[in-house]
Order: sequence, then C-alpha cells, then structure tokens
Amino acid sequence: MHGVTVIDHPLVQHKLTIMRRKETSTSSFRRLLREISTLLCYEVTRDLELTMETIETPLTEMQSPVLEGKKLVFASILRAGNGLLEGMLELVPAARVSHIGVYRDHDTLQPVEYYFKAPDALDERLVIVVDPMLATGNSSIAAIDKLKERGAKNIRFLCLLAAPEGIKHFCEAHPDVPVFTAAIDSHLNEKGYIVPGLGDAGDRMYGTK
Ligand code: URA
Repeated sequence: MHGVTVIDHPLVQHKLTIMRRKETSTSSFRRLLREISTLLCYEVTRDLELTMETIETPLTEMQSPVLEGKKLVFASILRAGNGLLEGMLELVPAARVSHIGVYRDHDTLQPVEYYFKAPDALDERLVIVVDPMLATGNSSIAAIDKLKERGAKNIRFLCLLAAPEGIKHFCEAHPDVPVFTAAIDSHLNEKGYIVPGLGDAGDRMYGTK
C-alpha cells in the first residue's frame, strides 16, 4: 500500500477547519489536535493484520482476533509530533514510542538532528512516523532516513496538512512509505509555510512565537 491517502472523514475535516482559524485559542487547538489524532490513528491502522487467539469468555472457549506481531512504534518528530502522539496513545496504549529531534534551520530550511531514541527490533515493527505538517519534507525525510539506518522496514507517515511540494519531495526520497494526511493544501510560501495552512503547528500548540 503506497502513495498518499487523504483522510476525508467529516469529523476530521470539521475539526481541521477550526484548527486553521487564526482566532482558535491555544487550549482549543491542543484539544482539537488530540481529538483529531485519535481519528487519524484509527484510519492509519485500519488494515493492520490480525491473528486468532484462543480465549475463554465466561461462557465458553472461542477463537478471537488480536493484533499480530510486535507492538507498534509511534515515532514523533519533535516538537509538533508530540501533539499527534497523545491521542494516538489513547487508542493504542501499548505502542512503543520513538522521539526524533529535528528542527528546521529558519534560513536554509534544512533539517538539523539533535535527538534520537527508539525501541529495539525496529525491523520487526510497524513504525508510524507523526508530524502535523509535511511542508518541505526535509525533516520527515531525515527522520525516516535515521529510522531506516536503525533497521525500520515497514514505515507509514501521518500528518495533518501536506504541501504538494513536500509530498513530491517525500515520495521521491521514500517511495516505500505511504503518506496519510487530512488535507493537501495549495503551496509552500517563500518561508516554507504551508498556504493556506494553519501557521506554525508547534507555536499554536504550545502558545509560543
Ligand atoms: N511547519 C509548520 O508548523 N507550519 C507550516 O506551515 C510549515 C511547517
């Protein structure tokens, strides 16, 4: 399953519209991001493999499905990725978490990596990389380069908004990684912001400037 999937669920689209509004407060933005991330998580995991397990109900024994394989990994690209992480962990509380610190140099727009932590056996797990904004694609490409260096083979990328330029760059660099997004916007401006977008996701989430 490759390419780009737009998650067009009406609740996702409605919440995203409120998040885009410039008058939406920090607390509302954060709450909406948590809510939307559970819906996005539901969609990005909808085709996970199941295996049958024998269990006993109070009445009888039965074969019942459970998720197959090792625990999932949610890999958050700091810092805005953490806003998506929270809601996803509510749905999949047993998931393992990787944190990847990459910031965008404001002048060059190039990614600078400053932190990397990941669980073991990355090669045996599905890794879902999360970052709300796929803008130039530089940070997410760098984060996935690093995860692949550490052995990850089965990777998906989940964001809230994507720019066409970022999708093109990302898919050229990692054609094996499917992208899930709630919307594809018009373009990137000269400062690397997604237009119309929602501004700086990290700043809106944490009330910084
Ligand atoms: N990162 C953001 O937070 N917003 C953008 O528009 C682009 C990158």
